[in-house]
Parts: sequence; C-alpha cells; structure tokens
Amino acid sequence: MLKVALVGVGGISGAHIPAWSRMEDAQLVALCDIRPEQMDRYPEQRHYTDFDRMLESEQIDILDICLPTYLHADFAVKALQKGIHVICEKPISLKQEDVARIYRAAAENGVQFMVAQVLRFWPEYEIVKKIYDEKTYGALLSGSMTRLGCYPRWSWDGWMMDESRSGLVPFDLHIHDLDFLVYAFGAPKSAVNHRSRRPGQDYINAVYEYDGFFLTTEASWYASPYPFRAAFRFQFERAVVAWEQGEMTIYEADGSVWNPVGADAQGDTGSIGLPQSDAYANEIRYFADCVKAGRAPDKVTPAELETVLAYLKAM
Ligand SMILES: NC(=O)c1ccc[n+]([C@@H]2O[C@H](COP(=O)([O-])OP(=O)(O)OC[C@H]3O[C@@H](n4cnc5c(N)ncnc54)[C@H](O)[C@@H]3O)[C@@H](O)[C@H]2O)c1
Repeated sequence: MLKVALVGVGGISGAHIPAWSRMEDAQLVALCDIRPEQMDRYPEQRHYTDFDRMLESEQIDILDICLPTYLHADFAVKALQKGIHVICEKPISLKQEDVARIYRAAAENGVQFMVAQVLRFWPEYEIVKKIYDEKTYGALLSGSMTRLGCYPRWSWDGWMMDESRSGLVPFDLHIHDLDFLVYAFGAPKSAVNHRSRRPGQDYINAVYEYDGFFLTTEASWYASPYPFRAAFRFQFERAVVAWEQGEMTIYEADGSVWNPVGADAQGDTGSIGLPQSDAYANEIRYFADCVKAGRAPDKVTPAELETVLAYLKAM
C-alpha cells in the first residue's frame, strides 16, 4: 500500500484528493495547508499546518504538491531529498533552471518525479494524439486551441494575480495547450505572440508554426465574468476533429459525423473510442503505477518541460 500526503488543500486539490481516495493500492494519510480550515472536510487524514513537521512525522512514499506555483520547486526538492516520490501540479516552476534542479534531486535520491500536465491524460486530447500519430485522417493541416476565462480574484492571498508568483495567463492557463502541443507534435519551429494586458485582465493569442501545419491558440483572463471554456479544432486532410462545448465530434470528409468518446464511440472504426474518464485520476494512477514499478514516468519529460517554459517566458 502506497502512503501518500498532499500539500496545498485549495482549488485543484478538490480533483486530486477524491482520486487518491478511490485508489485501492494507495492511502492518503496526511494533508498540509497553512489554513487549517481548508482541511476540515477531510477528517480521515492527519492534518498539518507546517510542511516540515509533516515530513518529519509521516512515513510517506508519495507527496502530491497542489501549492501555488512559486512554491512548487522548493517543496518538491525538499521532499525528493528525503527519498519521497513527488507528483506536482503544473507549472513545474516559473524558472527554466528549476527543471534540471528538480530532476537532479530525483535522480540523486533514487525517486520519481512527475508534473501533472493533465491534458496528456485527458481522453479527448489523447484521441487527437493518436489520430495524429497513426495518420488516421492523413496529415494535420491546421489547429485551433482555446482556453478562456475571467480574472482569478478567488485564489488564496491573490497569488494568481501576482506575476512573480503565478506567471499570469501564459504560465497558469496557456501552459495547458502549449504543453499538449509540444507533447503531441513536438517543439514548434517558431511562434508569433500577441498579448493584451491591462490591470485586471490578460489575453494572449499565439500561433505556432510546424513543418506543414500551424496552430492558433488563445487564452484569457477577461475582466468581465466570462464563463470558463476550453475547446479545440484540428483540421486533418480527411476530417475535422473538434471538442467544443464539452462534446467531441469527428467530422469525416465522407460525411460521417460521430463522437469518439463514451457511449457514442463507434465499435467498428478501429480503436479510437475511449471511455469517458477523469483525467486527474488518470494522471495520478499513472504516476502511482510508475512508482510501484520503479519506472521513470516518461510521459512527461524534462526536455518537453524546458521547451514549454522557454516559449512561455517569451510571451
Ligand atoms: N491542472 C489543472 O487543471 C489546475 C487547475 C487549477 C490549478 N492548478 C495548479 O495548481 C496549483 C494550485 O492552484 P489552486 O488553484 O489550487 O490554488 P489555491 O490558491 O486555491 O490553493 C493553494 C493552497 O495552498 C495553500 N498554501 C499556501 N502556502 C502554503 C504553504 N507554505 N504550506 C502549505 N499550504 C500552503 C493555501 O492556503 C491554499 O489553500 C497551481 O500551481 C495551479 O497552477 C492546476
């Protein structure tokens, strides 16, 4: 049984804690947050308000870091140096040099580290990668990825609105789509960025160039209460593959229109169809399996993380 602790019981921990709790071969034994009331709704775990104290008191195999971004690297290194495996929310850091520092600490202490880049474990995005890798509908010609929302006034201590702590829209939001592009299609050849930034709002539009195709992306924290939405549309030679308003649809050039996820998945079109699943649970399951097998979690590589941080820094 893997013993797990989680630090940072804020917004995203609400996706991680239930995922750990549902696993039969892992036990979430301890939580840590400087705000004790954040942990009140989890009576089954031991609670700490001091991270060092938790590390001293608990015998854990895995630490799950759900802290604000600017704390990720130092907390990860501290745990890795104690021989604890670490899964950490995105971004790994705002600083490119932290990638090598963290992976070095993991290697020196014989433990595993992974950044929870959740789109790599998201069924709809996994289908795009599979269609691209297998050339199911011919070559990719263009793509569009969108991730829009409003200014995050809700975060603890306003950390998300502070560039030095969150990196704003590029590092907090656009990172999801850029990370997926680098994972699925490799490093872009170049990027053209436009950004509209004022106090209380931030919008970026970036076009990434590849050999033979280009990808248009946008991400925002609008000042007005625009509802959160994420979507994509990829144009292949023989199909448009879209995820819009939470529905995935493949529009084939021969006229077929179908949903490759969940109940509508076609059984006779090869193995594209995937069950609907919780991507946060998928990433946590993957990491726990790597730890159990003593295998490096190579689905997220340091080279890819460095590429992503370099592009984000230029925005
Ligand atoms: N993968 C995703 O879809 C996704 C979504 C949201 C956030 N995130 C990432 O998750 C991380 C956390 O974001 P969030 O929205 O949950 O933030 P949040 O502000 O809601 O939560 C952070 C928590 O950390 C606690 N904290 C702060 N300093 C601490 C310390 N020194 N020791 C212990 N606890 C401390 C705060 O009290 C707070 O409860 C960020 O890096 C963010 O980028 C990822």
